[in-house]
Formats: sequence, structure tokens, C-alpha cells
Amino acid sequence: MTDKVSVNDTESKNQWRKNFRDTLPRNKRFSSYPAIKIGRLGIDLNFQGKGLGTEIMNFIKAMILNDNRYGCRYITVDAYRQSLKYYERNDFRYLTSSDVNEDTRLMYFDLSSLVIDSTI
Ligand SMILES: CC(C)(COP(=O)(O)OP(=O)(O)OC[C@H]1O[C@@H](n2cnc3c(N)ncnc32)[C@H](O)[C@@H]1OP(=O)(O)O)[C@@H](O)C(=O)NCCC(=O)NCCS
Repeated sequence: MTDKVSVNDTESKNQWRKNFRDTLPRNKRFSSYPAIKIGRLGIDLNFQGKGLGTEIMNFIKAMILNDNRYGCRYITVDAYRQSLKYYERNDFRYLTSSDVNEDTRLMYFDLSSLVIDSTI
């Protein structure tokens, strides 16, 4: 799905500046940035824990980066509690700690970590 990461999703303006706004050139600083949201990712019970989820995630990352045809820098997910470790292992970070006791947590992956020229 199309999505965005927004200053309102983060814990504080400082966190927004440090992790998002200040990582971009001055003329590209906005209060939100486009993202692609992953919804309902699932691996058949018989095949979980064999690295397939990671392979799919690497495929999704490469697909979005390829030619930068989506024009976005972030992948987001409302991650179920039982899948948090999986997203952490795939280098997703938490947007805020305000959802720490919720059933799902907002996480994001910064695609620029995969490219040498991070001006996307
Ligand atoms: C979450 C899910 C997609 C992960 O796919 P997977 O193929 O099982 O994951 P992988 O085998 O690639 O695992 C990658 C890493 O995440 C860890 N991990 C995956 N699922 C985990 C779980 N439930 N609890 C703890 N760690 C988990 C693995 O241990 C592995 O870490 P390692 O490299 O240290 O061994 C899959 O388990 C699933 O379909 N779960 C049920 C549905 C779900 O919760 N989907 C998420 C929707 S937000």
C-alpha cells in the first residue's frame, strides 16, 4: 500500500529531525515522506523460520529500489507483536515507543541504507 512517515508518527520533533529530516538536503525537508507499507505478510506455517520471510523482504526492498520507480525512501509496517523480532532482524526500526504496549507497532526501513548514493 502507499503510505507515509510523518513527524506526527514519531516520538518527538528531535527524533524526527535526527532520523528523517536532517538526513536529507535542506531543500528536501518536509513534515512527511512517501513510503510503501507492507500489509499481511505471511509464510505458511510449515515453512516459517527457514529464511523465506527474509528472502521475500530482500526481494521487496530490491523491487522498490530498482530504478527507484516508486519514488520513495521508506518501507513501513504495522508489525504484529509476534513478528517484531523478524522485522528487527531485517533492519526495521521503531518509529515511536508510544505503541510499545499495543498489539501492533509501527516500524520502518530506510532504503537509503542500501544505496551508496543516498540522495533518493
Ligand atoms: C513473520 C514471518 C513473515 C517471518 O517469516 P519467516 O520465513 O518465518 O522468517 P525468517 O525465517 O526469514 O526469519 C528471519 C529472522 O527472524 C526471526 N524470526 C522470525 N519469526 C520470528 C518469531 N515469530 N519470533 C522470533 N523470531 C522470529 C528468525 O529467528 C530469524 O532470525 P535469525 O536470522 O537470528 O535466525 C512469518 O513467521 C509469519 O508468517 N508469521 C505469521 C504472520 C505474521 O505475523 N506476519 C507479520 C505481519 S505484520
